[in-house]
Amino acid sequence: MPPCSSLMVVGGGVMGQGIARLFSGAGIAVTLVEPREITFSHPGVTVVRQMPAAPVPELVIEAVFEDRDVKQAVYADVERLYEGRPVLATNTSGLPLDELAAPLRYPERFLAMHFFMPADVFPMIEVVRGARTEEAAVTAAVAAVEQAGREPILLQRAVNGYLINRLQHAILHEAYHLLADGIATAEMIDSVATRLLGPRLCVTGLLKQKDMAGLGMHAQAQRSIVPTLSHTGIPSPFLQDMVARGDVGVRSGKGFYQWSGQDAADMQRRANARLQRLLAFLEREAQADAASDAGNDPGKYAASTVPGGDSAR
Ligand SMILES: NC(=O)c1ccc[n+]([C@@H]2O[C@H](COP(=O)([O-])OP(=O)(O)OC[C@H]3O[C@@H](n4cnc5c(N)ncnc54)[C@H](O)[C@@H]3O)[C@@H](O)[C@H]2O)c1
Repeated sequence: MPPCSSLMVVGGGVMGQGIARLFSGAGIAVTLVEPREITFSHPGVTVVRQMPAAPVPELVIEAVFEDRDVKQAVYADVERLYEGRPVLATNTSGLPLDELAAPLRYPERFLAMHFFMPADVFPMIEVVRGARTEEAAVTAAVAAVEQAGREPILLQRAVNGYLINRLQHAILHEAYHLLADGIATAEMIDSVATRLLGPRLCVTGLLKQKDMAGLGMHAQAQRSIVPTLSHTGIPSPFLQDMVARGDVGVRSGKGFYQWSGQDAADMQRRANARLQRLLAFLEREAQADAASDAGNDPGKYAASTVPGGDSAR
């Protein structure tokens, strides 16, 4: 497949700007469509207020508000201007893919490309086919992800939240339950997440670690713990109430923590920089591991191996 040379991102908010930076960094000419006045400027990205009739982009990535009507109005414009020529990808986090695709004239060209915040930092992008997506569209989206130096996580069927948010929400739902019941504090939950669970997940993932620790004991732990987990089947009232009160986090000065008087933009910048350093370190470790698996550098392997013991099941 020839490399992608032109791409359009529709919606120049926090995600759209990151997506534009990512692909322009891979040498793809990016047009960023944003009706608002924005200060964003980046080499290789042309910012416009409206979709131009020409040239026809090879790939359109929609990153507008999380609202079905707004998104479908964008799809109608894309189909009117470019017919079924570009692959049309949505970055929706939660709207059902096949419902978004329902009114499309070219549903075979439509799929999801789900980026993580910040879009130009994380090493993976989920690519999700809808019920009517054709193989060629999937192949083109996967190729564009690889062209940008990222790993595609290809799901064969759309499920709400795709893969990563499903895992993340399962953990968060239980965290809200523990907070609401006064069993643990936000500080305790975050401390465990950053200093214990996070590092372990970085090294041995979710499932490999269980294989290494032994499934027998894990199956036994499941039998006693799983019946006691939060199984309400509804969004956490604890979280919904916080939002209803206006406690939405850094933006309002209060969420799980007190944020008033702090420089949110600076905190976000520092967190992003830290994340980038960590991802670079993990990438070097993965390469050292791969080299040692190939028998090239056993010394480095020893330095990057951590004990696989399991004290928290
Ligand atoms: N923020 C995240 O962490 C995150 C992560 C993954 C996916 N997403 C998804 O990405 C999408 C965008 O999220 P965001 O956080 O960037 O939102 P955002 O509010 O920062 O940006 C949305 C942008 O779309 C623009 N817009 C609205 N209508 C438009 C139109 N018709 N044409 C062009 N631009 C239009 C708005 O002016 C705004 O700048 C959503 O679907 C969201 O679910 C967000």
